[in-house]
Amino acid sequence: MREGQNHVIYRADYQAPAYWIETVELCFDLDPVKTRVLNRMKVRRNPEVAAQPLRLDGEELNLARVLVNGQGTSFKLDGNQLVLENLPEGHEPFELEIFTTCAPAKNTKLMGLYTSNDSFFTQCEAEGFRRITYFLDRPDVMASYTVTLRADKKKYPVLLSNGNLVDQGELEDGRHFAKWVDPHRKPSYLFALVAGQLVAREQRITARNGREHLLQIFVRPGDLDKTEHAMNSLMASIAWDEARFGLPLDLERFMIVATSDFNMGAMENKGLNIFNTKLLLASQATATDMDFLNIESVVGHEYFHNWTGNRITCRDWFQLSLKEGLTVFRDQEFSMDLAGSPSARAVKRIEDVRVLRTAQFPEDAGPMAHPVRPDQYLEINNFYTVTIYEKGAEVVRMMQTLVGREGFAAGMKLYFERHDGQAVTCDDFAQAIADANPGSQLAALLPQFKRWYSQAGTPRVKASGHWDAATGSYTLTLAQSCAPTPGQPDKDPFVIPVALGLVGADGQETASRLHVLTQASETLSFTGLAAEPVPSILRGFSAPVILDIEYTDAQLLALLAHDSDPFNRWEAGQRLGLARALGFIAQEGLAPAALQLDAPYVEAMRSVLRHPQLDAAFKDLALTLPSETYIAEQLPVVDPQRVHAVREAMRLQLALALREDWEWAYEAHKDNGAYQPDPVSVGRRALAGLALTHLCVAAVHQGDTVWPGKALQRFKDASNMTDRFNALSALVISGHPLAANALQRFHAMFRHEPLVLDKWFALQAGAPDRGGNILPLVRQLVQHPDFSLRNPNRARSVITTYCNANPGGFHRADAAGYVFWSDKVIELDAMNPQVAARLARAMDRWRKLAEPLRSAAREAIARVAARPELSNDVREVVTRALA
Ligand code: PHE
Ligand code: ZN
Repeated sequence: MREGQNHVIYRADYQAPAYWIETVELCFDLDPVKTRVLNRMKVRRNPEVAAQPLRLDGEELNLARVLVNGQGTSFKLDGNQLVLENLPEGHEPFELEIFTTCAPAKNTKLMGLYTSNDSFFTQCEAEGFRRITYFLDRPDVMASYTVTLRADKKKYPVLLSNGNLVDQGELEDGRHFAKWVDPHRKPSYLFALVAGQLVAREQRITARNGREHLLQIFVRPGDLDKTEHAMNSLMASIAWDEARFGLPLDLERFMIVATSDFNMGAMENKGLNIFNTKLLLASQATATDMDFLNIESVVGHEYFHNWTGNRITCRDWFQLSLKEGLTVFRDQEFSMDLAGSPSARAVKRIEDVRVLRTAQFPEDAGPMAHPVRPDQYLEINNFYTVTIYEKGAEVVRMMQTLVGREGFAAGMKLYFERHDGQAVTCDDFAQAIADANPGSQLAALLPQFKRWYSQAGTPRVKASGHWDAATGSYTLTLAQSCAPTPGQPDKDPFVIPVALGLVGADGQETASRLHVLTQASETLSFTGLAAEPVPSILRGFSAPVILDIEYTDAQLLALLAHDSDPFNRWEAGQRLGLARALGFIAQEGLAPAALQLDAPYVEAMRSVLRHPQLDAAFKDLALTLPSETYIAEQLPVVDPQRVHAVREAMRLQLALALREDWEWAYEAHKDNGAYQPDPVSVGRRALAGLALTHLCVAAVHQGDTVWPGKALQRFKDASNMTDRFNALSALVISGHPLAANALQRFHAMFRHEPLVLDKWFALQAGAPDRGGNILPLVRQLVQHPDFSLRNPNRARSVITTYCNANPGGFHRADAAGYVFWSDKVIELDAMNPQVAARLARAMDRWRKLAEPLRSAAREAIARVAARPELSNDVREVVTRALA
């Protein structure tokens, strides 16, 4: 039934297109049931490629007519391609006119043209444009677009596409039209249209160069009061890109539109970004601090794509990280620059590294491991991964580390001088950064550095120190290795920038430098030291590697107390917690309820919590134990329920042992003034929330009702969603009976706020499992009248949260969690393969599971793989998992 290419695509097979499309004129008659699309193109042969038929991509289209220079012509349909053989000879452009129809209301894949809440939206990246019309749907074919939209005026008063509005007016039968011209050439994946009943927040700005711009954010009428933060974030993004990289806004009009049905976070269509409402709408009543920060970074991310992605785009989809890694790096830097203080910057860095280590490291060690620039794929949609995005950003960050901040800015300048308006490769980018910095280590080591693009897997750096008291010298040996990944048994050494320092027992720093590790093993010497130092290695997480180092507790306690690098200070605390978790997990016969945290660790945590200088945001991160996923990654064989039980027991101990400190922390940090989403207030709310959770956890254990009562009161009185949600989740996490009451109230309060309902669903699906209670609850939730499998946000809030973010509840001895997973993957795949394939990846690490979970997981995956009608998306994930 499913058509389409079902073979593997190789990077090495890249060939330039045999034809260029110079201009495209699209005319849409929008109708949910049957939309008519007239596509008039000016096409010419590429003189550099041998003559061959024109093969246009198309998917789920009804083809009505094909004309060449106004005349009917013969054509063939070959699978999903329209093949034209009898085209005019020579290299003059010819006119190709194609008339098709499609059915937006039936488009549940949310790729191409679809409807959502009675409006029309498009999503074309990566290969959605071919679901709108026949085209050379590849990013290296860049064309000039003119778009006319026609639709019923009452139902669709707003008609938007890329570029500038050049004409609009009335038509017969209550219809109207709008004509848009995009002044910039673009690949088809950046095309967009929107039509519907929308209202806009508008802002006029004058850029540094005096140019005027109109900024618009379009939403459904009831959501206008949730757009202020996004608009502020957009203005901040524009100012930042000009100030930091000299990149101005190149459009008269920059539009953002929100939709509640969207597969991803947001999309950088030229001049017409389309956002998932989750990453655009915020008010203090409905959005948490984390939502505010995510919106800021995603608005920035999509805006920054205007240069890194749109002005310079990708030659082919293997180069995806060219735009994504670079743009994530840019949005990370943007958020850090906005955060301001060194401590707030460090908090952002820690959060980014946490994502990398809990999501990307497992990917890099699992069946879907792939290089930042992959060599092959079956379905490109499966390669919008944390490796392409987050590891890709780390690779760019290492380049900046190697050439310095100014050198990097110079490299960006050269990149735009060379490639503006082109579709290029990761090699072109790295070359530009190196060429702009001829004396740098990056330039000297470029071919070896580029192994970060070609080799998958997380490198390990093993550090061992030796102290010679007699001579006052310290030697540090750094040895790198990288485990095999699918298709890559042997790895060559990477270029690893290692920022390091030596810290004396008194906290004095005796050395600090950047060492660039290039060999398999290297030894560094430090002389003239009075006492044995503690090495602080990989400061600021200077490379995306696993650092193996045997620290004593005393050394870690020293780093936690004194390291001048806030990242490693946090890391020392995490290592202390991790070592204890691993120790308890390994202690056979130890019941989690019986475990005892040692006094030095507890006292160290108390000092951090009570520290007079450290910021609340840092304390929140330092007092949060390593996640279950991160702990599991350190184990060769994983029993997720034991990991869960041990971590819960450790948290309970911290709750009990620091009870008075948590009380102090709560009282001292709970916000009472007006809501402000600045970093200091955000940190205070986070720490107060963490404190409240610990207080409720301790109270439930001790049979005390004071703190749960206070949490319920806080829940009722809260002036903002962060405090309200933190109070609610403290009750839910602690398992106190008041949670049920609060959940019910929460639902009643926000039943008309879909994004808040998503939180309500996710909180329950992700709650700590108690005696296997979560799966039955999840089964109830998917039957709830507010649940919908068709809405990606809602489906993810329950199903993905349960399967991916609740290991204790999901990995059940009776395998019922896995059966649920396979049912939902299959069900979702029939409507939305992209969402299904992401859910399918919840089983990536099945090989590490302890028996009998491992066999049960394999069986569930095999059950999915055996289905005859799988999409390429899911098929690729499950076959790789079983390979
Ligand atoms: N290119 C988008 C981004 O990173 C992500 C995206 C990919 C959205 C594919 C939709 C589809 O910003
Ligand atoms: Zn992006």
